[in-house]
Amino acid sequence: MKVKGQHYHSIWIDSSDPSVVKVIDQRYLPFSFQILELRTNNDVYTAIRNMTVRGAPLIGVTAAFGIYLALLNSRENHANQSITIIANKLKSARPTAVNLAMAVDRILHSIRKSHTLDEQINIALQTAISLKNEELENSRKIGIYGLPLIENMAGRKKDRLVNILTHCNAGWLACIDWGTATAPIYMAHNKGINLHVWVDETRPRNQGARLTAWELGEHGVPHTLITDNTGGQLMQEGLVDMVIVGSDRMTPDGDFANKIGTYLKALAAKDNNVPFYVALPSTSIDWKLKNATQIPIEKRDPEEVLYVKGWYDNHSADIRIAPEGTPALNYGFDITSARFVTGLITERGTCKANRYDIMKLFSASRRME
Ligand code: MRU
Repeated sequence: MKVKGQHYHSIWIDSSDPSVVKVIDQRYLPFSFQILELRTNNDVYTAIRNMTVRGAPLIGVTAAFGIYLALLNSRENHANQSITIIANKLKSARPTAVNLAMAVDRILHSIRKSHTLDEQINIALQTAISLKNEELENSRKIGIYGLPLIENMAGRKKDRLVNILTHCNAGWLACIDWGTATAPIYMAHNKGINLHVWVDETRPRNQGARLTAWELGEHGVPHTLITDNTGGQLMQEGLVDMVIVGSDRMTPDGDFANKIGTYLKALAAKDNNVPFYVALPSTSIDWKLKNATQIPIEKRDPEEVLYVKGWYDNHSADIRIAPEGTPALNYGFDITSARFVTGLITERGTCKANRYDIMKLFSASRRME
């Protein structure tokens, strides 16, 4: 996607120095567009943990580059930690999105038969780049498969405005390009479909207000920011035609974790007969899960609830919004049952959110690819 006319991915290798991985620093958007350089696996761990980079596909790809950087730096650093310890630390940076562990395991698997460090470095780099390209392609295909859903809605509405509600940021910043929930939206907008997006602010970190509103604005997609509690009322007024959200981890039965508040939107959508779609790449499906209670739900620092981050006098500022000493609880994600989901939009096509249809789309041999 373009930022001020220039095409960006959310992560890339420095073209003049392959020992540097560059990312868009999402902590300062939309107020300041900054690029951060990651040079070590510790830089990568910190960037994932403090949400410089965030969103399920992007944290997976970033962690993959983290293993590459660990191997690269171990050339000079002879007292290096074992790669397994580094891998486990990277995986622990954020627990809910399965993409993270999957990407790290894939890199480890790719280098297992290499005999020399140079060979390992080269394979790790190539595998991380492949993973990035695959996530990019996943998002593009999600856009292609999701587009007809919006086109059909536009047809049913006789080309009157299609209102789509989204939660958090499942946009290109959370992926490599296009996004998941936003990919069909961008493609429909590019095709000239008359659409508008309701953007949930997504407390406490405000990914909707800060990132989704910024992304959509940069691309010229009409949108309106709403508080997290507004969606239900809009649905009752008939002002939401469909909901599209992303996912951090889905069971093979279609139950899924996504940003806290997703569940309440699904409940409201069900009550109001509003179609509720989950757009996700297969890298966000955890095939080993027996049920959704096994999904680890990230609990974050209560300070994120007690303070609102904003921009004041050219600096990032934290404003306290509760009395001193107020206890706060900060769940990062919630679980939504498949029974509230109208359909999944994946890189292989759309399907119902149930084990039979998901398995049919991703047959065993395909899951191994
Ligand atoms: O805490 P975040 O900002 O990493 O949460 C992101 C989300 O919940 C997204 O909806 C999810 O990762 C899907 S991104 C394509």
